[in-house]
Amino acid sequence: MSNVVYLITGANRPNGIGFLAIQNLLLDPQAQVIAAVRDPASASDLLALEKSSEGRVKVVKMDVGDLESVKASFTEVAGLPFVREHGIDVLFANAGVFTGAMVPASKMDPTDALKDFQVNTWGAIYVAQVFLPLLRLGTQKKIVYTSSALGSTTFAFDAGIGGAFASYGMSKAATNHFFKRLAGELKEDGFTVVCYHPGVVGTSLSGVKAGETLGGIVAITPEEGGRLAATHINSWGPKDNGKFFGETGEEILW
Ligand SMILES: NC(=O)c1ccc[n+]([C@@H]2O[C@H](COP(=O)([O-])OP(=O)(O)OC[C@H]3O[C@@H](n4cnc5c(N)ncnc54)[C@H](OP(=O)(O)O)[C@@H]3O)[C@@H](O)[C@H]2O)c1
Repeated sequence: MSNVVYLITGANRPNGIGFLAIQNLLLDPQAQVIAAVRDPASASDLLALEKSSEGRVKVVKMDVGDLESVKASFTEVAGLPFVREHGIDVLFANAGVFTGAMVPASKMDPTDALKDFQVNTWGAIYVAQVFLPLLRLGTQKKIVYTSSALGSTTFAFDAGIGGAFASYGMSKAATNHFFKRLAGELKEDGFTVVCYHPGVVGTSLSGVKAGETLGGIVAITPEEGGRLAATHINSWGPKDNGKFFGETGEEILW
């Protein structure tokens, strides 16, 4: 079996979906992971994982909301020996912020909304666009965007949460549209482009603990969120291109 090279953004927090997905992906001895984080020096758990990984984890610096930082990261990653040989198989665009939080639509603050869009929308778009040449070289040609059910216009209304989380939901909905368009553009080239809602997960971003509810949904543990993300990422293929899935594997309405 050939090796599988993953690029994961927002991978530094030990109770975050990105970091915990990496731990699950590494259970496959053929997996190699490039973990992109804003501030490698402060990512002590991830640096420890890199150190113990026998070369299977490489930590790189990347602020996804800053195009120049994404381009600098591309230059570093493209020079890694295993990437030069193989390209990148899977991009897991996972970095995100939850700035607007509970502020209702009628009081949405443009400053908060711009922060959500800078990371959740432009951040994911920059990474997908800049790294596309390396994804074209990979065998799997897979892009998974960590969206949210709150980015489903249908779900957000039907869930009865009123106007809460409006700027966050808008930033995810706009990015879902981008990735659906990219899925159409890259279909003939054998790509699988998927949007993924990881569940309500008890991470520092959600601000709830496992077992508590957010938007009426009970949060799962970060460990379960990471495990589910890794399992689903590996299960999707070209037949799933252009779809939006939840953590139980069901499709979500846009
Ligand atoms: N938790 C949930 O219930 C839930 C539900 C639906 C969707 N999601 C999505 O799942 C993804 C992961 O979230 P999480 O719950 O695991 O939260 P998390 O642990 O807070 O992870 C968010 C990650 O994004 C990184 N990040 C933020 N801004 C960045 C930037 N400009 N450049 C690079 N990295 C940046 C953070 O790094 P720093 O430490 O440097 O800030 C952190 O590693 C997010 O996209 C989130 O929207 C989460």
